[in-house]
Amino acid sequence: ITVEVNKPGHKISPMLFGIFFEDINLSTDGGMYPELVRNRSFEDADTLQYWKFISADGQSKASIASADAQVRPPILPLNPYNRKSLCIKANGAFNLVNDGYWGMNIIQGDCYTFQLAARTTDDFRAPLTIRIVSSTGKELASGEIKAFGTQWQYHSLDLSASGSDPKAHLEISGTGKGTLYLDMVSLMPDKTWKNHGLRIDLADALDSLHPRFMRFPGGSFVEGVNIADMYNWKNTIGNIDMRTPLRNLWGYNSTNGIGFQEYLQLAEDLGAEPLFCINAGMSYGEVVPMDRMGQWEQDALDAIQYANGPVTSVWGSLRAKNGHPEPFHLKYIEIGNENGGTTYDKRWELIANAIHAKYPNIKLIADEWEGGHPHDPMPAIIDEHYYNNPDWFIWNAHKYDSYDRKGPKVFIGEYAVTSGTGKGDLRGAIGEAAWMTGMERNSDIVEMGSYAPLFCNANHRAWPINLINFDSYRWYGIPSYYVQEMFSNNQGTVELPVSIEHAPVFEIPVSSGCIGLGTRNSSAEFKDLQVVSSKGKILFNPKFSQIDDQWRKSPRSEWTAQNGVLKNSSNTFWGSAIFMGDTAWTNYTITLKARKISGEHGFQIYF
Ligand code: AHR
Repeated sequence: ITVEVNKPGHKISPMLFGIFFEDINLSTDGGMYPELVRNRSFEDADTLQYWKFISADGQSKASIASADAQVRPPILPLNPYNRKSLCIKANGAFNLVNDGYWGMNIIQGDCYTFQLAARTTDDFRAPLTIRIVSSTGKELASGEIKAFGTQWQYHSLDLSASGSDPKAHLEISGTGKGTLYLDMVSLMPDKTWKNHGLRIDLADALDSLHPRFMRFPGGSFVEGVNIADMYNWKNTIGNIDMRTPLRNLWGYNSTNGIGFQEYLQLAEDLGAEPLFCINAGMSYGEVVPMDRMGQWEQDALDAIQYANGPVTSVWGSLRAKNGHPEPFHLKYIEIGNENGGTTYDKRWELIANAIHAKYPNIKLIADEWEGGHPHDPMPAIIDEHYYNNPDWFIWNAHKYDSYDRKGPKVFIGEYAVTSGTGKGDLRGAIGEAAWMTGMERNSDIVEMGSYAPLFCNANHRAWPINLINFDSYRWYGIPSYYVQEMFSNNQGTVELPVSIEHAPVFEIPVSSGCIGLGTRNSSAEFKDLQVVSSKGKILFNPKFSQIDDQWRKSPRSEWTAQNGVLKNSSNTFWGSAIFMGDTAWTNYTITLKARKISGEHGFQIYF
């Protein structure tokens, strides 16, 4: 390997390696957001989803009370954005159980805050006993709340765990008569990452990646199935009981407990530039008509004001009220996700022009989709996505070597080996590593890139292969995680010319008696080919004065042989030259040795 240190090239983009945090696979609720109660506000369904209601006398009933369906009084929602609550008509003993997200991780000695909002309509007087119980039935913590009034009121308890269990659950029990409404039933660990309300081990896993930027919150999550299910950042700020939950296209309700402010805070805590992806008025199934796009344009401007505006501005003042008077210095906005065609171009033009006029320093990212990207106005950066098999990533490691340098910079916002890699194996990680060398070598044009998706609750895998997989108390990274970590923590500052002269050795268990060489989309030359048995015997040592009977050309390639050099001069096709070996080789372990002396791609061996 020759590295020419005296010939420095371009600077490596300081923003090159980042993360893409999408709310997918229960990565926020049931993951980074450490709320232990699932369906705490009873908004997930019209039934008691994720709760069990057990009554001892068989007469107690629980149902979801929906203010939408009834006129006040008697039913009053907790607030206009949180309209459903649990209605318990008690006549004796009852017990309400929540298992959280496949068990609650309770740690001995740690403190947990329990909270709920309650009201009674006909004098439910009895206290409620709150218990954290292990999977074997052992009580780990308990307390009592009482004195319910006719108006909604919050009650809270500090619970300290006397034992540990990653699969504990919560029980709320009482014995009484009357009607009791409950809402926002919450159990949160007091210890969170940097005291900013995130699960510590998962946030640490991100921190180890040392990301330079963080794209959020999607992905398709931003688009939604229909416009009604699109991500709207304004529904995700302020008091958690006022945040509108989002039924998302990954098959669950997001509480938005990690909302716009928390994402910005996480980026800041990671030392990463926030990159907000905003809906472009396009969902999977529906598009907002142009004459209704004013709200989308305004939402984008307001998001920037929320993140960066002075505390005297409308949205900046809310940011301050929500705990962050200093601006977040948001610099990157992506308009839309995987949107394309003229439908997208028109919406891009509207939103991008509005942002440029008011915030000229914001870098705007457009989607590269359906074979192109908008040109008016020209984006600073375009977002390209790649999901493929390991070989594709290896072969395409040189994709950007000849990429147009006159156009926008490139953000490879999503890339991952998604086939031919099991559930994420070393082969996939090596494919991505090869690709990342190409990102680094070409980071004069490839400014940023991020693997996708980042997180997966192993009990809710909506996407097949994910970087960090977890359950209630532990996580593991697939090999790709360690590739990301290695590249990100060892990023160079300047590109240096590197050339490699190599004689790769491949151990091939021959079963068919034939081996071959392949190149794709580039010419290549090989010499010094040898086929050697496991005992060191040279079985074949072609001189290559010509392609003879033993080397067959594949019909679409242009292999020639001269002076010991085997050459494929095709640069448009996959080309292979196959050597028909001796059938007596079957079940030998043989080695093909070859030296590549020119050509952009590596070569592949068949057997
Ligand atoms: O990363 C998973 C999904 O793949 C993203 O949500 C979407 O942008 C892409 O299609």
